[in-house]
Amino acid sequence: MKEITETKNIGLRGVKVADTRISDVDGERGILIYRGLNICDLVVHSTFEEVSFLLLNDHLPTAEELKRFQSELVSEREVPEAVYRFMKMMPNTSHPMDILQAAVPILASDDPQLYGESRNANLKKAIRLIAKLPNIVAAWDRIRKRKKPVRPNPELTHAGNFLYMLSGSLPDPETVRDFDICLILHAEHSFNASTFAAREVASTHAHLYAAVAAATGALSGELHGGANSEVMKMFLEIGEMHRVKSWVSERLQKGGKIMGMGHAVYHTEDPRATILREICIQLANRTGDRKWFELTKTVEAATQEEFKKLKGKEIFPNIDFYSASVYYMMGISIDVFTPVFAISRISGWAAHIIEEKFAEAQPKPELYRPDADYVGAYCGPQACPYIPIEERSK
Ligand SMILES: CC(C)(COP(=O)(O)OP(=O)(O)OC[C@H]1O[C@@H](n2cnc3c(N)ncnc32)[C@H](O)[C@@H]1OP(=O)(O)O)[C@@H](O)C(=O)NCCC(=O)NCCS
Repeated sequence: MKEITETKNIGLRGVKVADTRISDVDGERGILIYRGLNICDLVVHSTFEEVSFLLLNDHLPTAEELKRFQSELVSEREVPEAVYRFMKMMPNTSHPMDILQAAVPILASDDPQLYGESRNANLKKAIRLIAKLPNIVAAWDRIRKRKKPVRPNPELTHAGNFLYMLSGSLPDPETVRDFDICLILHAEHSFNASTFAAREVASTHAHLYAAVAAATGALSGELHGGANSEVMKMFLEIGEMHRVKSWVSERLQKGGKIMGMGHAVYHTEDPRATILREICIQLANRTGDRKWFELTKTVEAATQEEFKKLKGKEIFPNIDFYSASVYYMMGISIDVFTPVFAISRISGWAAHIIEEKFAEAQPKPELYRPDADYVGAYCGPQACPYIPIEERSK
């Protein structure tokens, strides 16, 4: 084996691999900026549709631009029949993230501009995906529960229409606004694992759908978007307030993780968690059932206390911590939490894929091709002798 002396940054923490104009995460101060605008302002003044426009176009839309963008999204909500046929063939145990990932290439086959590589053609593909992914997530949740999928309602906003397609009934305006804020908060987060996967695939000149399918796979993992479902499973397992302290200490003492806590970039509270905590309180007050908010808050406090004792460091909730109870209180199935993340992050992924393809923040497009130190079998620079099968022993 070759001796390697260089210290590597496994996991690429803090390694800058590109320039981007799309978002900035200030991990020390807990600030998240989309195209120059603070998310705290966007959640007050904007909608998911407006934020998607902003991410894709590098400026807030005029009233006319927003109207056109919204109506394009509405007109692209229907999915091809092939998507429903595919879902009806699948066992109802299939995970919603697998269904979503597998449906993306079906949408690609239906796109009249699939190989159109102008910026405008890519923008159209982005709009189609932003419009259609919610339909797929909602339809699969119904099909697997032996319910008829609900066709999109053109009168409803992006957030309202998703909740309507999922439940089959018109959602109340407060829940729609809360859900819209959740979509805004999940839309973009710089070079996280799924966005990096999307950009890496786009750098090979693969089409936008291929990059989105890869990103969807990356998002499904429990250290990334999959954490939100795991958080809710953890809350249900803990179940009662009086069990929180002992459950959390035992978990941490055994070297286990508290899902939804900690972040690779934020060393203070994730600003999205701060906003989601507020939504969680409001939802709890509105529904009159404060159990999940109280449990979430208690797990947060117990984790912080025990973590400090064990590691001498602070730990904070990330976006997935409070979003879990929020989605649960909205009546969304636990394994649909991560697909809900995806129907929002699609806007950020698409913005990054376009930025990557058209080198909008760097001098020219470049294929990602990192390197690794080879630490496997080594017999010298000319490689090891090949042993024929009959001469091999274990
Ligand atoms: C997101 C995450 C992978 C970041 O990990 P990271 O970059 O290694 O974070 P740090 O460098 O700050 O970790 C420092 C230490 O805290 C521990 N730690 C971090 N998050 C933890 C958690 N949620 N529970 C228990 N321990 C945790 C790490 O294991 C590490 O321990 P070590 O020093 O003994 O090796 C990690 O916090 C995590 O796994 N969180 C739970 C999953 C989750 O919520 N993911 C969604 C992220 S948005």
